[in-house]
Amino acid sequence: MSPQPPVLRVGIVGYGVMGKAHSYGYRVAPMLRALPVTPVVGVISGRNGPAAAAAAAAYGIGEHTTDWRALVARDDIAVVDICTPPGTHAEIARAAAAAGKAVLCEKPLALTYPEAAAALAAVTSAGVHHAVGFNYRRLPAVALMRRMIADGAVGEVRLWRATWLSDEFTDPDTPYDWRFDRQMGGTTIADLGSHLIDMALWMAGEIRSVCAQSETFIAERPLPAGTAAAGTGGGARTVTVDDASSALLRFGSGALGAMEVARAAVRRPCDFTVEVNGSRGTLVFDYARLNELRYGSAGDDPGLYGMRRIRAEHPSHPYAGSWWPIGQGVGYGSSFGNQVADLLEGWPDAPWTPGFGQGAAVQAVCDAMEASAAQGRWVTVSEVTGAA
Ligand SMILES: NC(=O)c1ccc[n+]([C@@H]2O[C@H](COP(=O)([O-])OP(=O)(O)OC[C@H]3O[C@@H](n4cnc5c(N)ncnc54)[C@H](O)[C@@H]3O)[C@@H](O)[C@H]2O)c1
Repeated sequence: MSPQPPVLRVGIVGYGVMGKAHSYGYRVAPMLRALPVTPVVGVISGRNGPAAAAAAAAYGIGEHTTDWRALVARDDIAVVDICTPPGTHAEIARAAAAAGKAVLCEKPLALTYPEAAAALAAVTSAGVHHAVGFNYRRLPAVALMRRMIADGAVGEVRLWRATWLSDEFTDPDTPYDWRFDRQMGGTTIADLGSHLIDMALWMAGEIRSVCAQSETFIAERPLPAGTAAAGTGGGARTVTVDDASSALLRFGSGALGAMEVARAAVRRPCDFTVEVNGSRGTLVFDYARLNELRYGSAGDDPGLYGMRRIRAEHPSHPYAGSWWPIGQGVGYGSSFGNQVADLLEGWPDAPWTPGFGQGAAVQAVCDAMEASAAQGRWVTVSEVTGAA
């Protein structure tokens, strides 16, 4: 019997939706690939003690705490995994780097580009591993799309477009939480846009300038039941984020882009599409059919005019061979297992990707969109980064 690889202990900050998804990722990764270490989540933190305890029990984690600083300070923890609201990310990442921990941070990396740049500087000067949780790029079909673009399947990229529609904010009775709070990084541009911008940069290269618009359709939200002000009647809080935003993009390559993000789209649960039109072909990904890609090439037989449906489940496709027999497909959760396997496969020598540099690059485009929407003009990304 071969010995079990040594344990690598992880601390997860935040037990909510992403705390659960990341816990799942650490469990499943060793089933996907032979890893040099066995990741074990040793502790999880959250502000609400009983809820953190319940989450630890449900996710099979031995310890919980309400103090993320205590988690970061523990000698037995090698990786700090940040799953809290964006407004808290940069501070926790800087503290983890200072303590010499590897850092995986959920998207977006920070609230603003300067904060993201400071987090990047912190992990760089500490010499620790760092990554941002842009998990969608680790779905087989999305990874295949990127590989096909890089291999020239569509020729020169000319047009890139994406939409991400959800109905998360359509009900005016949805109570206020951090997602409605700009200071916590709850904007739709940061939440949905950061994923799309990551994919845009990854597939089509640098974004040079943006022209954006944003709107908030429901100006205030009721306070959650049980809060003091709600108990006094009529408690509501002003929403400081966008319900929907869209933008035109110009890439450094000369390609044009368009992107729309909205949490105001009735009966659209988490529907996103990404399309690339190149000089010789088109590729389309639709998250509602996440194991497929549509592809058409100018070289195809005109008698078969149209696009073929690629089943991104063949063992030759990225990630697919580690999962189920062809035809069974994978879901959202697979991206978190793939993420952990990618990060730990080359531990401790191989750098992690996408790192905080990509997180900061995405943040710069988010900030440019915010500035453009506020000022009603095209904004170059270099205005945000100060790059010459
Ligand atoms: N990659 C993805 O698919 C994906 C999906 C959802 C969310 N996210 C990102 O993950 C992060 C966490 O999102 P989530 O949906 O898990 O959040 P959540 O509300 O479900 O959980 C938030 C966690 O952070 C803790 N927390 C610490 N400080 C907080 C504060 N000031 N306000 C509220 N909670 C606080 C809470 O106790 C809780 O444990 C965000 O950055 C979000 O953008 C990523």
